[in-house]
Amino acid sequence: RRRLLPLLPLLLVGSACSVDGIQSVGGRDGQGGAAIADLFGIFLVATLLFAAVVAAFLGAAALRRRGRRADGIEDPEGSGTERPLKTGLIVWIAAVAIGLFGLTLASHLTDRSMARALPDPASALRIEIVANQWWWDVRYHFRDPSRDVRTANELHLPAGVPAHVTLKSNDVIHSFWVPNLAGKQDLIPGRITDLMLIPRKTGVYRGQCAEFCGMQHAHMALDVTVEPREAFERWRAHNAAPAVPPTNALTRAGYDYFTTRECSTCHAIAGTPASGQVAPDLTHFASRRSIAAGTLPMSRGHIYAWIADPQGPKPGNAMPYIGLEADELHAVAAYLESLK
Ligand code: CUA
Repeated sequence: RRRLLPLLPLLLVGSACSVDGIQSVGGRDGQGGAAIADLFGIFLVATLLFAAVVAAFLGAAALRRRGRRADGIEDPEGSGTERPLKTGLIVWIAAVAIGLFGLTLASHLTDRSMARALPDPASALRIEIVANQWWWDVRYHFRDPSRDVRTANELHLPAGVPAHVTLKSNDVIHSFWVPNLAGKQDLIPGRITDLMLIPRKTGVYRGQCAEFCGMQHAHMALDVTVEPREAFERWRAHNAAPAVPPTNALTRAGYDYFTTRECSTCHAIAGTPASGQVAPDLTHFASRRSIAAGTLPMSRGHIYAWIADPQGPKPGNAMPYIGLEADELHAVAAYLESLK
């Protein structure tokens, strides 16, 4: 059984490639992701090849030594085996040097081809993402500002259309990473970085903060939907519109609580007096796939759970315990659930 132990790292590499299709290293669903996947393939084959040669030599040496012991005769130094040893050494050093040079070249060429393939940012979809501990503030900018969209912890992209993403941070260093689509890019306080996303096929993906940024770093995910252009345009139009007004007594009570009490000091809901700027925009909250940056799937139960005790599922996050009465909780949850 011990002999299988060396295979363990290989298994680990294999499992990392296929944890889940929606967040997959080596994904080919975007132009950058595909280039990185190709490069990874080259590195994997080259390193496995060298590992196999090293293992073969080790094995051969071990067997040879065993054979000699059986004879009881030790080969004295300098008995004619020196020359092939030297030649072998030179060949081996040359092979390693060529291998390293080849991998460096492959890395360099991939980098160059990715940079060359990038379209002009002026012609791309413009998205601005600001990272906060621990959520993503997402804004889409269009030439006509009435078309602009503001959302949080989700990204919708039209397939085949390049999206130029500008990245900023409000607090510490984070890293934007949707492995299926492209490589990582850090978000650094006081600086502006950017990244081009060129999704090639429709699908649902998961982005994840890839730089340790505090206690809830793991709960800083991003739901990404790549869809056909018409579907994206429908999403954009829906999300550019203000929130739906309350339609019954319960949602009206929730609206009243939300817009006049604690909630609106931090959160904004377009079309209402709630205009707080330090927490996620909730204008179309219930249309999202998850709550609190991928922490909980969107559902009535999770909306209740989150409002009743936001520190339970995500300790340390900026949303405080409010302590609503049961009827207030019921009303606010119903109102938020109506924000499709
Ligand atoms: Cu943000 Cu890790």
